[in-house]
Amino acid sequence: MTQDELKKLVGEAALEYVVEDSIVGVGTGSTVNYFIDALATMKHKIKGAVSSSEASTERLKQHGIEVFELNEVDKIPVYIDGADESNHLLELIKGGGGALTREKIIAAVADQFICIADESKLVRRLGEFPLPVEVIPMARSYVARQIVKLGGDPVYRTGFVTDNGNVILDVHGLVINEPIKLERILNNIVGVVTNGLFAERAADVLLLGKEGKVETIT
Ligand code: A5P
Repeated sequence: MTQDELKKLVGEAALEYVVEDSIVGVGTGSTVNYFIDALATMKHKIKGAVSSSEASTERLKQHGIEVFELNEVDKIPVYIDGADESNHLLELIKGGGGALTREKIIAAVADQFICIADESKLVRRLGEFPLPVEVIPMARSYVARQIVKLGGDPVYRTGFVTDNGNVILDVHGLVINEPIKLERILNNIVGVVTNGLFAERAADVLLLGKEGKVETIT
């Protein structure tokens, strides 16, 4: 199976976790796009969705799925999203698509976080994928200098603005032995909105597309 076929497989497998009559939390990215397409087949069984990006919102609406503002919603039983990397504890790096902040907010609200990914995303140690950090534009140089002090090599994602009007620094070269600790340290730098480590709130279930099948890791 190709990587895209594996993404489709896990996107469809995630339907099993969708709770009927509920509002579904929806992430962002190419794997989630397959989930959204699959969700459309059961759109009459759900109330609607909350979305982590303008791109996902548009795709949901194209399928006729109602999209709610998070502030209008008091319960999200399940959040489905992809990842750029996952370790075996289901701690993640996310934000390759730049939607990390809204993703982290919805993941925090949801009762259960189901991550969907192809096998290339499962790693022994996080950090080969550059860690995205969303930054308030005027703090970009300051934050970059603080990250260098931590041993990282921040690269400004030029020409990219997040849905929140901020910029992204992609941090290379970090050795991430303690993801929760690093997540907190980075979030403590003034000017950082959030970073792409999802370790304090890791995934609850990883549906991994591997060798033509879906492996469920908890
Ligand atoms: C979006 O900002 C990211 O967090 C995505 O969830 C992540 O990049 C995975 O994307 P793909 O499913 O396209 O690999």
